[in-house]
Amino acid sequence: MARINEHFLKLQAGYLFPEIGRRVQAFAAEHPDKAGQIIRCGIGDVTEPLPSAAIEAMHKAVDDLATHENFHGYGPEQGYAWLRETIAQNAYAAHGIRVSADEIFISDGAKCDMGNILDIFGPDNSIAVPDPVYPVYVDTNVMNGNTGNIQEDGTYEGLVYLPCTPENNFVPDIPKEKVDLIYLCFPNNPTGAVARRNDLIKWVEYALANDAIILYDGAYEAFITDPLIPRSIFDIPGARRCAIEFRSFSKQGGFTGVRCGYVVIPQELTGKDGQGNRVPVSQLWARRHSTKFNGASYIVQRGAAALFTEQGLLETHTLISHYLGNASLLASACRQVGLRVWGGENAPYIWVECPKGTSSWEMFDKMLKEALVVITPGAGFGSMGEGFFRISAFNTRDNVNEVCRRIHKLFA
Ligand code: MLT
Repeated sequence: MARINEHFLKLQAGYLFPEIGRRVQAFAAEHPDKAGQIIRCGIGDVTEPLPSAAIEAMHKAVDDLATHENFHGYGPEQGYAWLRETIAQNAYAAHGIRVSADEIFISDGAKCDMGNILDIFGPDNSIAVPDPVYPVYVDTNVMNGNTGNIQEDGTYEGLVYLPCTPENNFVPDIPKEKVDLIYLCFPNNPTGAVARRNDLIKWVEYALANDAIILYDGAYEAFITDPLIPRSIFDIPGARRCAIEFRSFSKQGGFTGVRCGYVVIPQELTGKDGQGNRVPVSQLWARRHSTKFNGASYIVQRGAAALFTEQGLLETHTLISHYLGNASLLASACRQVGLRVWGGENAPYIWVECPKGTSSWEMFDKMLKEALVVITPGAGFGSMGEGFFRISAFNTRDNVNEVCRRIHKLFA
């Protein structure tokens, strides 16, 4: 009989967002009269149409495939050079950050990359994750056998959890112990926290001193409006020797349904083999990429490249401003009813403290049943998320205004 990967059996029953979807569906089925009024601020999924620059480029790319002259079959596994070059120029050089096109690997999204990256790391690494955390980092480590069993408080044996609390502004402190891989995400999902330059300098110094690698999730970089906040881990001296950065067009360009992201692995970054020899990490990732991936689609890459044209940049800016405007309205509404709120300024997520005595799943139920608004319970992001809930600002302005009205009514 075929043996399964038993590490999967250690996972909590369902991935967070499908589980929320299941609960919302069950509620809607029980209350068909209310189903149409439910507003979803749970999963961070975009609502606005794509920038027309991307739409036009993708239409044109479809037409290319209709002719012998412009036809494209398999593309380069690492992504088309024209997309990698425009990213190097616009997402990095334009902000004074050195990343070269051949250090960029195009993919079908950051979530896949964050999980797939574990293919190139060995089994005995000590791994640190923030708590609360984007569940993908934890679950993919469980699947890969990098953890022990789940414990009563929802944490997994063998992982080093880095508490993120109001006291540290949800930016984790350096651990006392030595770890080998560190997940960081800024602007943060779920808390909306941002890391200042000094915070990141500490992490880079720690990683260099401990020969560790930082897996830096920059999926929400486009929401940074404060010029003092670093846009990339590679803005920090030394980071090229100790970090990998993950980026996504999902939120920047509204590509959640289109699928495109990228990983940046600097040439200087190395890991060690069993004999202690240094091996360039990008070589391993290139090997993995070319073996298991045939490249993101030509059409999608044309769409992504168009986000960096003059028109694309303007439209992207409008899109981000829309969601940041939503975030600001939602944060104000929560503050006005006396709730404590974090995030939502350089990030599309609001992190809200539950009223005293209410757990985060109780808050989820209350918001769903009494306000017909879906939020994400903090406990779904880890044990330190208990006592908080996340509101996603990815929505239409009308819906956000309505959610604000309902928050006022619920807490009046
Ligand atoms: C979220 O809601 O946390 C995100 O949409 C999840 C994701 O980007 O995969």
